[in-house]
Amino acid sequence: MLGLVFGSGFENFVLQNARTQKVTTPFGEAEFDIGIFCNKTIVVLHRHGKDHRYAPHQIPARAQMWALHEAGVTDIIAVGSVGGMSAENAPGHFTVPDQLIDYTSGRESTYWGEAPIATSHVDFTQPFDEGLRGKILDAAQTCKVYVHNRGTYACTQGPRLETAAEVRRMIMDGCDLVGMTAMPEAVLARELGMRYALICFSVNWAAGLVDNRLDFEAIKLNMGRSVSTLERILAECVAA
Ligand code: HPA
Repeated sequence: MLGLVFGSGFENFVLQNARTQKVTTPFGEAEFDIGIFCNKTIVVLHRHGKDHRYAPHQIPARAQMWALHEAGVTDIIAVGSVGGMSAENAPGHFTVPDQLIDYTSGRESTYWGEAPIATSHVDFTQPFDEGLRGKILDAAQTCKVYVHNRGTYACTQGPRLETAAEVRRMIMDGCDLVGMTAMPEAVLARELGMRYALICFSVNWAAGLVDNRLDFEAIKLNMGRSVSTLERILAECVAA
């Protein structure tokens, strides 16, 4: 079964006949919806909570990924807003990243030693599932939406935005886009054996690249503009 993991901007996503499930996992509470989207039963999880109660550093990712796995999710398409750090990631552009660098700190990022499953040093050479990446890119092509087919996602700790020097460093590290939520989500999915891919939409230039300061209201406005396009791509992914 497919699971969609949404970040900010998707609070009004409509799932037909949706049932909300609240589950208690060994790692705390998690909530998701099961319902119909494009004639298929899927699971939808809002990683910040439907009431946006979790800031990026507070997201209970271990409970959330555990809950999706227990519900029978095998494939996760996650969506995340990002700041752009390369020409292909100007605000308004979409990217399906193929790599990431984890700059977070202090997040609970493994099940190892704490879960009733055998976890080990998971291979994370390719952090995103190639098959699922291809599915998103094919869907975007069918929808005639240009989506960049590669990029390195920098995951920062947040909740503050980055300094200009941090952005310069991440560009030197080879990063193309910066967000706060793909980790540890992606690696936890890998530990549980779920396929995971991410589609990102750029809502601002990363700190220091153009303006003197970042305006979160402008960022939110940009978010709204991309959501309906993303929903079309996701519908095509589900229907295909
Ligand atoms: N930095 C980190 N996360 C983000 C940004 C950003 O500039 N824009 C949207 N999410």
